[in-house]
Amino acid sequence: MSTSQSFIMSVSLAGTGHAVPEKSFPNTDFEKTLDTSDAWIVQRTGIRERRFAEIHETTSSYAARAAKKALDASGLTPEQIGMVVVATTTPDMRIPATANIVQNELGLVNAYSYDIVAACSGFVFAMVAANAHIRSGLTSSALVIASDLYSSILDFEDRNTAVLFGDGAGAAVLAKQEKSEWAPDGRPSGVVAVSLNTDATRWDNLTCLGGGTAGRKTLSSAQPGFVRMDGRDVFKQAVQACEARIRDVLDASGCKPEHIACLIPHQANIRIIEKVAQNVGYPLERMAINLDRYGNMAAASIPVALDEAVRNGRVGPGDLILLVAAGAGFSSAAMLLRV
Ligand code: ACO
Repeated sequence: MSTSQSFIMSVSLAGTGHAVPEKSFPNTDFEKTLDTSDAWIVQRTGIRERRFAEIHETTSSYAARAAKKALDASGLTPEQIGMVVVATTTPDMRIPATANIVQNELGLVNAYSYDIVAACSGFVFAMVAANAHIRSGLTSSALVIASDLYSSILDFEDRNTAVLFGDGAGAAVLAKQEKSEWAPDGRPSGVVAVSLNTDATRWDNLTCLGGGTAGRKTLSSAQPGFVRMDGRDVFKQAVQACEARIRDVLDASGCKPEHIACLIPHQANIRIIEKVAQNVGYPLERMAINLDRYGNMAAASIPVALDEAVRNGRVGPGDLILLVAAGAGFSSAAMLLRV
């Protein structure tokens, strides 16, 4: 599904924020316990270090910290937020939604809240949902958060997955903007085009049983579980899906790669990013890349990179940016927006 937006009103990016754990773990830490090496991890993935949360910290605590920064940057008050959506596959608990806990923590008394499960594509799926809710008139502003602590579902004895992931959270505020509020050049900021896709025939190439109903032996015997991944298939699917989603939003909007100031891809593997850049003809140096410092933070990778790009001035008012993600499901998503 891909769509471009008509501009009676627009849904604009009002603020961004992120929060990552303090403690950093370099690749060499894994050399002590796994048959791996810093050289292998850097060469095959581009990752040099990642951050892991302390044991007492939760997905909602990082989500709330990132969201508070996005809210402060937006200039909106907590009372003005009408919707909170958290993209996560590592929720605090099964019930209630992590978004409910964040809503309470931040005192967002006029909001409704729920979680979205779309793995590494979750932030873009959540942005698309918030955009649709605002356009439909259900709310006029939304806090879109992605928070994942994959340290809670990693098998630290599995070299195929343990070295790839890190913990973190990112957030954005989306808000309705009337035509009268647009810039003097008449160009609206905000969401320009979106594309969502799920190739569900590939649902089993990346899984985590983690308390679900599949695989239980007796009533109420749901097993805890770790991430398991067919890395080669995920790699191939990720390249194809990201390329397809980018082409969708370019076609829907009539934009060309040279119009995009910054492309912010999901941060799974530098080789995936390089291949996508090459296939769509986009310069690698204009892509926001942070996986060397954080590893793959699942849904949080894109909003963390987005906030970094906004705060370090890499993207500014009027710039077109493109978010693109792929992950378990097998899901993929892209959003083109003007800052
Ligand atoms: N250290 C050393 N060797 C390793 C390691 C490691 N950390 N991990 C795997 N290997 C070995 C494998 O066991 C294999 O050994 P074998 O040939 O003896 O069987 C060898 O390296 C080659 O394995 P490949 O899978 O071919 O390695 P590849 O170059 O493909 O890299 C990787 C593996 C990094 C996992 C890659 O396939 C990848 O990045 N896949 C995509 C992951 C991804 O995108 N995940 C995102 C989705 S996450 C989400 O949605 C939540």
